[in-house]
Amino acid sequence: MSVSPDPATAAREAAEAAGPGAAARETLLSVRGLRVSVADGSEVLHGVDLDVPRGSAVGLVGESGSGKTLTCRAVLGLLPAGVEVTGGEITLDGTELTALPAARRARLRGTDLAAVFQDPASYLNPSIAVGAQLAEVLRVKVGLGRRAARHRAVELLGAMGLRHPEHVSRQYPFELSGGMLQRVLIAMSITAGPRLLIADEATTALDVTVQAEVLELLAELRRDRGLTLVVVSHDLAVISQVCDTVHVFRDGGVVEAGPTRQVLRAPRHPYTRELIDNHERFGIGRVREQRSRS
Ligand SMILES: Nc1ncnc2c1ncn2[C@@H]1O[C@H](COP(=O)(O)OP(=O)(O)OP(=O)(O)O)[C@@H](O)[C@H]1O
Ligand SMILES: [Mg+2]
Repeated sequence: MSVSPDPATAAREAAEAAGPGAAARETLLSVRGLRVSVADGSEVLHGVDLDVPRGSAVGLVGESGSGKTLTCRAVLGLLPAGVEVTGGEITLDGTELTALPAARRARLRGTDLAAVFQDPASYLNPSIAVGAQLAEVLRVKVGLGRRAARHRAVELLGAMGLRHPEHVSRQYPFELSGGMLQRVLIAMSITAGPRLLIADEATTALDVTVQAEVLELLAELRRDRGLTLVVVSHDLAVISQVCDTVHVFRDGGVVEAGPTRQVLRAPRHPYTRELIDNHERFGIGRVREQRSRS
């Protein structure tokens, strides 16, 4: 059941919320009335609306099972077997995606859309050095020759904030920490210059310091490369650090959306209030600071 009385209004407010000029800024990704059903026929997304202005960072929060990941996967065209879009529209830069053939969707991933998830190690081959894996992506997705790809891989690892990138490029995944692996995955995901990067719990497994560093990298990519971000996190402090706007998910729908500071400071939906209270009860102060700043 969607709890929001008017999700379209909430989504529009979110689109208009990213500060002065945001309303004029074009929407890069728009999701309208997205419905998704799983293999047994039951519906798990009941009409999700999401607006992602170009160049913005949009946060998705909400309890476990509320539909954040399936929304992201529907956008990416990567729903699990048996899980299907049954209604609504997903528009990227004016192109409606749900009607596109699977091969077109696959081409969009990596070129226009990219994603990083929790557990970066599981996306890497354990028996190939990370530089060689990154070089392979550069050969396939960017069309670089063998030598240029190797060179570019080291450059990219350096640009992701990895020290001694030449050395790191020769290391195997098991030799790198979680934060380093996530930087390698981020490098891979952005090789072809996507416009939108979805980070679904990408920093959840990292310790607080490393998490902050990886978030800073995402913010840098946004600033320097104009990357638009969708950030899924349970951590409201992460969302408040990175995101202009936030969408609050509950039971397969968006119950509240708006500018992050406004939503955290003056939540309108009781569920959002509950989420913030729980967050603060478990000792994370930054949300309260965020809320008390005027
Ligand atoms: N492959 C699947 N088959 C059946 N149901 C699924 C499948 N994947 C997800 N679901 C169901 O869809 C709903 C939304 O799941 P989703 O993974 O999008 O939640 P989430 O908000 O990302 O949760 P979390 O915060 O735990 O990652 C849940 O009820 C979940 O059980
Ligand atoms: Mg999830």
